[in-house]
Amino acid sequence: MAPRILNGQVEVRSHLGPNDERTLADDVLDGLTRPLKELPPKHFYDARGSELFDAICELPEYYQTRTERRILETHADDVVARTGAVELVELGSGSATKTRVLLDAMRDAGTLARYIPVDVSATTVHAVAELFVEEYEGLSVYGMVGDFERHLKHLPAPVGPRLVPFLGGTIGNFPPGSRRRFLRSLGKTLGDGGHLLLGTDLVKDPHVIEAAYNDSAGVTAQFNLNVLHVLNRELGADFDVDAFEHVAFFDREREWIEMRLRATKPQHVRIDALDLEVDFAGREEIRTEISAKFTPERLRGDLAAAGLELVEMFTDPEELFAVSLARVASD
Ligand SMILES: C[S@@+](CC[C@H](N)C(=O)[O-])C[C@H]1O[C@@H](n2cnc3c(N)ncnc32)[C@H](O)[C@@H]1O
Repeated sequence: MAPRILNGQVEVRSHLGPNDERTLADDVLDGLTRPLKELPPKHFYDARGSELFDAICELPEYYQTRTERRILETHADDVVARTGAVELVELGSGSATKTRVLLDAMRDAGTLARYIPVDVSATTVHAVAELFVEEYEGLSVYGMVGDFERHLKHLPAPVGPRLVPFLGGTIGNFPPGSRRRFLRSLGKTLGDGGHLLLGTDLVKDPHVIEAAYNDSAGVTAQFNLNVLHVLNRELGADFDVDAFEHVAFFDREREWIEMRLRATKPQHVRIDALDLEVDFAGREEIRTEISAKFTPERLRGDLAAAGLELVEMFTDPEELFAVSLARVASD
């Protein structure tokens, strides 16, 4: 069904349904029966997980959010002028705190028409949709609760030049092969003359990176452990969450952070919805996230392999983080 786009109004559609419980079940069955047990990071983000992620963004060690915001503040007017963007389709929008910088620039340029947040977290999409339609006069908000790997085909047609922000370094959660496949699929989402605005964390002193994922307040640990609460609640599992600990380290060869959960003692876990029994040896780990760090060469290579070309890479003076403007490559 075609969505109604109403000037200055809000509409939220959910593309998650019974099949998505299936997706969680399939991911868990697939991940926990591998030799190195694994869970995909998108399952962190129930309402509590989204709150914990917001708390991470405020941590002193987590340089990513404040640095990306500063880059956006410095270059948003330029990005809007160069792209002529009238709408934003934001992937993994979360609580969209940095998005205001782009929306403000579009409003000031007189181009702002529509905002489309896309996120698996229903609570954040609803909250942001309601907030922004109030804050920005005349703005249409079409919220999409869904999985950006599966549901982008349901996006409405562009109403004019489209800008697709994918911020927060979330692209780093994809392993290299699927990262390129996903970027290629984004080319189709951009529409004629559209642009991608991609936030990536950069390779730097490993101690700085590791500190960002091992904060002294233990918020990242709670965020990581939250995925076990999700499995207990959604799949009737009986993980003893207190018997797992948070582990995060920078893999210097692959240049990515790995977050893991380590069993502090042997455990036998039952997952009712899967009729599955899983054993953990003492100190056995589940990999819950990778977060790839980029060099300009890696970024350019990934974009090129996905049929995209870099228009400009904006960084901060310390080169901690990058926000890159890209478009479909001209042949
Ligand atoms: C690292 S946070 C970034 C949030 C925000 N963009 C920022 O920059 O602070 C990742 C966001 O992507 C969402 N997300 C993760 N995997 C997703 C998927 N497959 N489909 C849709 N949203 C996803 C999460 O719910 C979360 O809000």
